[in-house]
Amino acid sequence: MKKIAVFASGNGSNFQVLAEQFPIEFVFSDHRDAYVLTRAEKLGVKNYAFELKEFADKAAYEAALVQLLEQHQIDLVVLAGYMKIVASTLLAKYEGRMINIHPAYLPEFPGAHGIEDAWAAGVKESGVTVHWVDSGIDSGQIIRQKRVPRLESDTIETFEARIHQTEYALYPEVLESLGVARKPNGSI
Ligand code: GRF
Repeated sequence: MKKIAVFASGNGSNFQVLAEQFPIEFVFSDHRDAYVLTRAEKLGVKNYAFELKEFADKAAYEAALVQLLEQHQIDLVVLAGYMKIVASTLLAKYEGRMINIHPAYLPEFPGAHGIEDAWAAGVKESGVTVHWVDSGIDSGQIIRQKRVPRLESDTIETFEARIHQTEYALYPEVLESLGVARKPNGSI
């Protein structure tokens, strides 16, 4: 069975959706006060948190992550709102085994503000993308994408909500397509 770990920096709504449908070995947050850790506790998912500033440099921080992933024999690292650029220490070990979800239709609107940037550009449609992680920013090979329309009646809040709902459908589809087994029906 493929073992997965989720990395998230903040709210963790994508983590929650995944944890309800798939066994998650652990969730990691790079912020000790992130709400995703509360979600993990409530769901009974093992969770870890440490921060870049607690290490000498990014290589040392990522070496600690590699150690954690290796201890748990993780097959697939699932980034879900992990707000750091993945650097060479982590990529050297997990490139090809690490995916990310981005709230725009890449290569349109990469970066930390995909929703706001699409909104500000006045697009008629944006979307959601799941891709492999490489050394660039949201530049890795695309696995699957879905278009999301922007409606006449939208505010940025309703537009954003529609994008998030699309993420919650797309990420489980992709995990399944990569051979991650769902939880048996009815288990928590
Ligand atoms: C999502 O929109 C994801 O695409 C982006 O960051 C957001 C995380 O939201 N990378 P959440 O923490 O899963 O609620």
